[in-house]
Amino acid sequence: MWKITYRVHRQKGNEPPHYETFQVEVDPEEYVLDGVEKIWASEDRSLTFRHACHHSTCGACGMRVNGVEKLTCITKIKDVVQDGGTLTVEPLRNFPVVSDLVVDLGPLYRKMAAVQAPAVHALSMTPWEGQNIAPPADIPMRSADEEYIRLPDCIECGICISACPVAATDPEYFGPAPLAAIQIQGLDKPELLALADSQEGVWRCHSAFECSAVCPSNVDPGRRIMDLRRQVSAKRLKLA
Ligand code: SF4
Ligand code: FES
Repeated sequence: MWKITYRVHRQKGNEPPHYETFQVEVDPEEYVLDGVEKIWASEDRSLTFRHACHHSTCGACGMRVNGVEKLTCITKIKDVVQDGGTLTVEPLRNFPVVSDLVVDLGPLYRKMAAVQAPAVHALSMTPWEGQNIAPPADIPMRSADEEYIRLPDCIECGICISACPVAATDPEYFGPAPLAAIQIQGLDKPELLALADSQEGVWRCHSAFECSAVCPSNVDPGRRIMDLRRQVSAKRLKLA
């Protein structure tokens, strides 16, 4: 077994963020999320974090591990720290922090709905369950009566938005997953063309490809945004 230090971002309510450290005994083959659960189980039951499937499907456990966005349920401890070392866990960036390691993914859900690909997990993943905080009423849900597209392989984790340098400076920017969701639909619908070609659409992307580097699934949103640019340009040429 290894002894490592977890340096954990803490923040409740309006209090300023700070870090607390916990010494944790772990098997290096375990995952970062296992260590967070050990802290919760044996050190501090007020630690708030989110998880569900533990096999990279639900998208709930996204955090920054040593400054890099990861799904913590599939990130092995031995891959991010050495025996005796320190591992920092923080919430995703570019989303409001709800509590400790939990962010409000509402901005992602609203944008996915705006591009006509409403999030499947919007209800089940709400961080408000059991915390006496009602989910925002304006998060659009999927209706059983309608058919929707889904961005293939996307688990709606928000990791791409956390890593995006443009999202860090412009909260209105649609961001990687929503723009990728337009790309797979094509631009036959004028409203999608208008969103893609808007000030907060494809032209705000700086082609950093941080989104594709951290995406834990096979979405490759950066490539999809570049293809969407090509689609928008082709539409503009045809309209000229
Ligand atoms: S595109 Fe990738 S990183 Fe972004 S929300 Fe979907 S699965 Fe997560
Ligand atoms: S707990 Fe579901 S993706 Fe990690």
